[in-house]
Amino acid sequence: PLRSGQTGSTAHCGGQLKDELNKLEELFTVSTGTLKKISNHFVKELEKGLSVEGGNIPMNPTWCMAFPDGHETGTFIALDMGGTNLRVCQITLTEEKGRFEITQSKYRMPEDLKTGTADQLWNYIADCLQQFIADNHEEDQLSHIPVGFTFSYPATQDYIDHGVLQRWTKGFDIDGVEGKDVVPPFEAALAARGLRLKLTALVNDTTGTLIASAYTDTEVKIGCIFGTGCNAAYMENVGSIPKLAHMNLDPSLPMAINCEWGAFDNEHLVLPRTKYDIHIDETSPRPGQQSYEKMVAGYYLGEIMRLVLLDLHDNSKCGIFKDQDISELKKPYLLDAGFISRIEEDPFENLEETKSLFQDTLHITLTRAELEFVRRLAELIGTRAARLTACGIAAICNKKGWKTCHVGADGSLFTKSRYFKKRQAKALGEILDWGEGKGDAVDDPVMVLPAEDGSGVGAALIAALTIKRVKQGQV
Ligand code: GLC
Repeated sequence: PLRSGQTGSTAHCGGQLKDELNKLEELFTVSTGTLKKISNHFVKELEKGLSVEGGNIPMNPTWCMAFPDGHETGTFIALDMGGTNLRVCQITLTEEKGRFEITQSKYRMPEDLKTGTADQLWNYIADCLQQFIADNHEEDQLSHIPVGFTFSYPATQDYIDHGVLQRWTKGFDIDGVEGKDVVPPFEAALAARGLRLKLTALVNDTTGTLIASAYTDTEVKIGCIFGTGCNAAYMENVGSIPKLAHMNLDPSLPMAINCEWGAFDNEHLVLPRTKYDIHIDETSPRPGQQSYEKMVAGYYLGEIMRLVLLDLHDNSKCGIFKDQDISELKKPYLLDAGFISRIEEDPFENLEETKSLFQDTLHITLTRAELEFVRRLAELIGTRAARLTACGIAAICNKKGWKTCHVGADGSLFTKSRYFKKRQAKALGEILDWGEGKGDAVDDPVMVLPAEDGSGVGAALIAALTIKRVKQGQV
């Protein structure tokens, strides 16, 4: 019988297509043993990243040095530059514990901005901010409003209101920004428009997610993004960060660490990379970087599917897309992660949506066998990504000795893909040996839960915490 579902559909495609599918099953399936091996290596890499010598994973100190207590108040502007959208928010943290008000506007980041010039980028951001302010404010109210800027790329920070971009990720490739402090050009673009705003905190989306989630749930110890990119932040003690020893800070102080775990295994020791992953890496603007991210983040999942399909069409005898014009399929990054999740959610009985997706996006008409084949391929790619993300979460828990905790999570894969959560929870259970009956994302020792708006509310909270620290004369 035909069946659909998260555990895998049975593709009834015939003959050689079936043989290819069997090979792909093997290629994309990550066993419990492999997950454990990866996660064990991950623990070592987390440690290395905190050491003076450093490792693959940057483990960036963020100078966010406290959890909120729910009594933070004030009005803030939060600017969120993610991979896809630019969001401007005004957030008021009210007197009522844990409650906030938010007004926001979203602007789509034009595709060509990602590979344009630095000036274009800063001008675009400043224009959006100016527009938002024109719509929501009297000019003279402005100068007192602190800004939290969620800049979701790896940055080296010596203070919370500065950050040197280590490298672009998620397909961005703008010359003249890497290796430089991003705050001065940002503030200059604001000043050029007469906007008298002061940046209070430069924040990573994962740190924002950690803090915003902890604001309403005190069991939250980790913040994660499973979206266009993939990354995590958690609270470390200063005493466990050897690379900060020279600063002679109180070792008991907390310090949020932005792991930048997308860079895990850049040495290629443990991740089961396929030739498709290797191709994505080699043709990316930053080869050799973000090895883990390139296997698990939304930005890459559709591309993995495209590469598999193209490879089978060009190099296999399975006859896929026979007599069809496949010129659209040759366009890099044409398919996004939403494409995969829509295929996965399509009722298996008729796969109508999958059929139209292929027709509309790729101008290819699929046979029933091909429909079943791509459905199973979507499941394989989505499942591999979800399972691999569990390795990072388990590694942080193991490193810190946390047997139970909550993880605040955001990002399109987590919020929009129906099966991601369950697959990730199952893999966490396998790595952490929870045994039967656990790992179903219902009542697990480590629960990954949807976060509060980290890039907005989180950035506002971090700005509030920063102001409080400055007032108290702390570092
Ligand atoms: C990329 C960025 C990282 C961010 C993540 C999720 O990995 O390098 O800073 O947190 O994407 O947006």
